[in-house]
Amino acid sequence: MNQLVLNILEKLEKLKQQGGNEYWNIEWDTGKFLSQLVTIHKPMVILEIGTSTGFSGLWLAGTADQYGGRLITIESSKKRLPLAKDSFGLSKLENIELIFAHAPECFEQFDESLVVDMMFIDASKRDYIKFYNKMKPFLSDGAVIIADNVISHSEFVGDYLDLVRKENDSVLLDIDQGLEFTIYKKTTN
Ligand SMILES: C[S@@+](CC[C@H](N)C(=O)[O-])C[C@H]1O[C@@H](n2cnc3c(N)ncnc32)[C@H](O)[C@@H]1O
Repeated sequence: MNQLVLNILEKLEKLKQQGGNEYWNIEWDTGKFLSQLVTIHKPMVILEIGTSTGFSGLWLAGTADQYGGRLITIESSKKRLPLAKDSFGLSKLENIELIFAHAPECFEQFDESLVVDMMFIDASKRDYIKFYNKMKPFLSDGAVIIADNVISHSEFVGDYLDLVRKENDSVLLDIDQGLEFTIYKKTTN
């Protein structure tokens, strides 16, 4: 993570604390954890669903930039998109593709050759299971999937947790709002 990106993250964190986190950004420790995961796993392509103002995206892309990885991040809100563009623009990171679209429908536009090595799910909680099922063709074997808010919004993500635990190696981490940490097992069927 270079100093410019860290400075922007610190500025956004201050705004978040003053403004009551109106853009629902991840907590600081969740950001640090995502960054550590990127450092050890070194995903070449990271997909984020739910950009908001770009806070988590900067943690992911800022770390992936150190070794040539890139971030694709999807946001469906017209209001938040310019704020994310500003954060990414200020960072001068060139490894971010910001897509204004609604997931999972937009996955149909992905190139067939796309291979995603890490996915961070932080959008509409009821749709986690759809995001997972529709992204399967694009996930590499051993891809890391992190889903946020699985403790804070547990009432909406039960079906997702049941499925990822049944099909993969998956565990709940009691960090901030609750993260489900999954290592994806690719099957041929
Ligand atoms: C919790 S916020 C994301 C926060 C962001 N990850 C961060 O920490 O900075 C969720 C965001 O997902 C967006 N969103 C919700 N459902 C979506 C969908 N189906 N497709 C794309 N974006 C979605 C919302 O507009 C909102 O900005």
